[in-house]
Amino acid sequence: MSRGKVIITGGCGYIGSHTSVELIKNKFDVVIFDDLSNSKEFIMDRIYQIAGVKPAFEKVDLSNPIEADRAYYKHSDAHSIINFAAFKAVGESVEKPILYYKNNLYTLINSIEAQKKYGIKNFIFSSSATVYGNPNRLPITESFQTKRAFSPYGNSKKIAEEILEDFSKAYPEFKTISLRYFNPIGAHESGLIGELPNGIPNNLLPYVTQCAAGVLKELQVFGNDYNTKDGTPIRDYVHVVDLAKAHVKALERLLSGNMKENYDVYNLGTGKGVTVMDIINTFEKVTKEKINYRITKRRAGDVQALFASAEKAKNNLGWEATLSLENMIETSWNWEKTFRDM
Ligand code: UFG
Repeated sequence: MSRGKVIITGGCGYIGSHTSVELIKNKFDVVIFDDLSNSKEFIMDRIYQIAGVKPAFEKVDLSNPIEADRAYYKHSDAHSIINFAAFKAVGESVEKPILYYKNNLYTLINSIEAQKKYGIKNFIFSSSATVYGNPNRLPITESFQTKRAFSPYGNSKKIAEEILEDFSKAYPEFKTISLRYFNPIGAHESGLIGELPNGIPNNLLPYVTQCAAGVLKELQVFGNDYNTKDGTPIRDYVHVVDLAKAHVKALERLLSGNMKENYDVYNLGTGKGVTVMDIINTFEKVTKEKINYRITKRRAGDVQALFASAEKAKNNLGWEATLSLENMIETSWNWEKTFRDM
């Protein structure tokens, strides 16, 4: 029996597509809203190939209030919205702040407005560890103060969380969970879905796989003078399939009626810190491919070390990351090869 309808905004994207698969596997009816500005419609067929059900699909620009209302009205029988739809290139957001604030925040506001208008009770927001800025202690727990992020992209996440908190205070019948992702990498084990970076990637893993595939010539390692074991920055890399499963757990929490507060936040990470050199060395070991890399100067805005305390998600959601760094790298590389052959 169906567990009801869930709207996934940005469901053709990287984390959205993996989450759609997990929701279908867990018997939810998935409807994807996507404007396909940074994703491809064939991902719908891939979701079908993996999960055996093709989600309903609406091509909609959610930053446009009329388009957004039309789509939400059509699917107003949904009980939940999971909001992935957003622009996410940190560097581009510094150059085009208005574009980022407009797209990311209008999309959010139009979605919660529809939520209220149509009585869609539950909301999950895809947030980021970037809301913690440069923390002075580690691991990062959810009680750490959030800070103004370095980039408009990051700041749009922080502002969005504040909007959602205010919304849930004003309208207690609506429940919201913000999930703060650390560094999502990896791809589905089938090799059918994964990250599809637009142009030259900003993030480490897609850059590494494209170097190994010969698409890019050289990886720049942005600084080896940090105070870490090998001088390169530490991050908490988490498998996208683990992240996708956390959304199912968060949804179950919202539906359970067991939430003490009607707005809550969770870190999603492994709790383990990994350096850039660890990534390169593990990649070379797992794939037997060489990475042509060069140490360059630090990238503006990078912080030395970030890793999560994932205790709260474990205790309240019953979620824990289970997939290894080797698996993250292997599936990323497998996806890179498959998608190049498409
Ligand atoms: N790095 C390189 N070379 C590259 C790319 C990255 O050395 O070509 C290094 C960075 O300096 C950093 C690490 O690899 O130390 C990870 O960098 P990413 O760009 O992959 O990820 P970030 O940690 O900078 O950013 C990620 C998400 C953002 C989010 C942020 C929150 O991509 O969306 O975490 O902390 F805002």
